[in-house]
Amino acid sequence: MGLEDQRDVETDVYQPAEDSHLLADAACDDLADADEGSLVLEVGTGSGYVAGRIDDETPARVIAADLNPHAVRQAREAGLEAVRADLVAPFADGALDAVVFNPPYLPTDPDNEWDDWMEQALSGGEDGRAVIDPFLAEVGRVLAPDGSVYLLVSSLTGVDDVVEEAGEHGFSAAAVADESFPFETLTVLELFR
Ligand SMILES: C[S@@+](CC[C@H](N)C(=O)[O-])C[C@H]1O[C@@H](n2cnc3c(N)ncnc32)[C@H](O)[C@@H]1O
Repeated sequence: MGLEDQRDVETDVYQPAEDSHLLADAACDDLADADEGSLVLEVGTGSGYVAGRIDDETPARVIAADLNPHAVRQAREAGLEAVRADLVAPFADGALDAVVFNPPYLPTDPDNEWDDWMEQALSGGEDGRAVIDPFLAEVGRVLAPDGSVYLLVSSLTGVDDVVEEAGEHGFSAAAVADESFPFETLTVLELFR
């Protein structure tokens, strides 16, 4: 990686943080006994950290996807199968055994939004659900009938609101991990039908 590329990664790609670790731990625990060859998609892979953990620690085949081309490059350089995609748009109906997503979830005042890749990684718009809601509307199409979604949500975004919205799209929800910090509690929801 050249100096210019290194600068892009540091300023334009979300690097692993507490939310990434919580999601990776929960997904790896649940997918440890996945069938060999089952297919897992990480939406919004960023650095590829969560997808890399699933690849290393479970029998599943993992595809990493992100809207941000700098993230796709970093994930590929980490040895992952990575594609540029808006949420789940390019994936075939019913093709995925699990979908994992640590979405942009921070409620953001429109006046304070920055128009760059890091803003796309962090900002969930005014209510924090500007990316989560379309994801919930679309993910059922690509999920196998007995597949699961592992979705990171924050108390800042409103866990109950996300559970209610998921219910509108036919999903039941269970909290499989949580961790509290001074300003928020992070929860990993497993969504299933
Ligand atoms: C909070 S970061 C999480 C990064 C990484 N998965 C992690 O846990 O460290 C959210 C990621 O979602 C990506 N993203 C935002 N909107 C997206 C969309 N519509 N489709 C795909 N990825 C998106 C961002 O580029 C960013 O990499």
